[in-house]
Amino acid sequence: MCGIVGAYVASGDVVPGLVQGLSVLEYRGYDSAGIAAVIDGELRVRKRRGRLSNLEEALEDGGLSGGLAGIGHTRWATHGVPSDVNSHPHQGASGRVAVVHNGIIENYALLKRELLEGGESFLSETDTEVLARLIDQTWAEEGTDQAALMRAMRRALGRVSGYYAIAVLATTDDGTCLLAMRQGPPLVVGTTEDGGFLSSDVLGLVPHTRQVVYLEDGDLAQLEPGRLTVTDAAGDVVERPSREVEWDPSDSGRGGYPHYMLKEIHEQPDVIERTCIDRIDLASGDVRFEGGAFDDAFCNSIERIQILGCGTALHAGQIARYLIEGLAGLPVEFDFASEFRYRSPRVAPGTVALAITQSGETADTLGATRLARELGARVASICNVAGSSQVRESEATILTHAGPEIGVASTKAFTAQLTAAVLLAVRIARSRGTMSEDEGRALLTELSELRPKVESLLTQESVARTRDAARTHAGARGFLFLGRGVNFPVALEGALKLKEIAYVHAEGYAAGEMKHGPIALIDPGMAVLVVNAEGPVAEKTRSNIEQVKARGGVTVSVGSDGASHAIADSYVPVPRTSEWLSPILNTIPLQLISYHIAEIHGCDIDKPRNLAKSVTVE
Ligand code: F6R
Repeated sequence: MCGIVGAYVASGDVVPGLVQGLSVLEYRGYDSAGIAAVIDGELRVRKRRGRLSNLEEALEDGGLSGGLAGIGHTRWATHGVPSDVNSHPHQGASGRVAVVHNGIIENYALLKRELLEGGESFLSETDTEVLARLIDQTWAEEGTDQAALMRAMRRALGRVSGYYAIAVLATTDDGTCLLAMRQGPPLVVGTTEDGGFLSSDVLGLVPHTRQVVYLEDGDLAQLEPGRLTVTDAAGDVVERPSREVEWDPSDSGRGGYPHYMLKEIHEQPDVIERTCIDRIDLASGDVRFEGGAFDDAFCNSIERIQILGCGTALHAGQIARYLIEGLAGLPVEFDFASEFRYRSPRVAPGTVALAITQSGETADTLGATRLARELGARVASICNVAGSSQVRESEATILTHAGPEIGVASTKAFTAQLTAAVLLAVRIARSRGTMSEDEGRALLTELSELRPKVESLLTQESVARTRDAARTHAGARGFLFLGRGVNFPVALEGALKLKEIAYVHAEGYAAGEMKHGPIALIDPGMAVLVVNAEGPVAEKTRSNIEQVKARGGVTVSVGSDGASHAIADSYVPVPRTSEWLSPILNTIPLQLISYHIAEIHGCDIDKPRNLAKSVTVE
């Protein structure tokens, strides 16, 4: 949510690299984009409402060319409408300081009033301009050089409550100064002989370096070519560990697909295999996680699991609940991370709070797991980003190997989370003795052999089938997605995908709940997608198809239950697998149906309106 970049290069022109960094981070927000650079000792800014292409046009005048240091921003608007003037960077009155910001300054109104009373004037409606003017004013009190600016940053930000990752570019009496500070949202930095770089996430850094440093809350970093200096909240110089990033710069491209979402859907055979294959030990019918995570001692100490997450990740968590309860016999609860903190949760002794998150930076999920820890829980996570805040704050983590997910609508991260959840459920079940070696081996063999089944859902013929289903139903007034048991959350996820990328009203419902209300919605204008896999609940779900048909509704059966296909108006077949693994397969045609409906409606699939990836504010 908002992406920030910064660079100070030894030679050449800093702006093309900043633009490239913003293009990679644009998924974090696309309401506006802007850059500030120091040219011949003067701070200059270009910023435009809308997509990065608008900024690129504005940069064509060359006014920002030839500078060595700069900062950039791509915005998801929180305070103030998307407009040129509300775009970042924002400047202080001296014209010598520019600020880009990801986060929210909660007491900005109070600070703004004070600044106004002191004679400051404001151009924008943003909280960030308050920050820029406060830093600038405090700097004037401290001095005119870089050391004074750093003191001013600490003083100014000491008055701020909220969450921020900021980059500050300034022309000081002793040169050009690029600073970054973090309290909440992520910030990664890296240096090479050729430059010092900062970014909201590692994708913005990998074109420059694979060795990155994650700043901690309270850190203030100064970046120069070949040099990084970090001081902690106490003002002491500290060495933060540097980590090697596995992601490749080419991972952030579209790879020939028209959209990241489609590329990421097609990556799922690799992703699912990467997430499970090296962890499966068929000889023992068990799972081995890196570094001995979730070993017998840990698993046997768990009395209860509290799953926390948001959106798609929470849907994976709901499926994890069925898996862990069903296979390991442990009580599991799940909650929206955004709600967990606002009830009075009771955390029983022996609770493990399991955060599920692609980015590892979702503010609600981090906040909820921190609260769970305060209340006595141990924290574990399923996460896609090594080095993220969530991973660093977890005692045990299962990394999903989905690679960077750039499409705003989560696809491959979800099926990777489901794969990780199967592994975790088996590990706990084997450790607690609720699953025999043979049972473990059977399920893990099925998982390790899932790849061809996943691939079969992505052949031209299968994709065409989902496109046909999309064409048939794109004009429906609304969509109901139904599922039962472990496939109920798949229905929730199917509905969420359709809402977010095609802007069509869709509801996911537990199939058995339909007759308690939503059945009133059924008429020929309502498309009902029923997710059904062979297994103990298949017959009951079939009855729901009959009930919808009896009321004139239009049904599409998705799954491996042939008997459902026989009674539905149309169907999308899915290969047979264990019921526990069926959500992984059933999800894929639903992703494709949403994709094609969004395409038919001409929606901006990778950048759905109002959304942004990595929700780092509450
Ligand atoms: C939907 C989607 C969101 C995220 C949610 C949590 O397609 O992507 O619902 O799942 O914002 O994000 P993470 O997983 O990064 O915590």
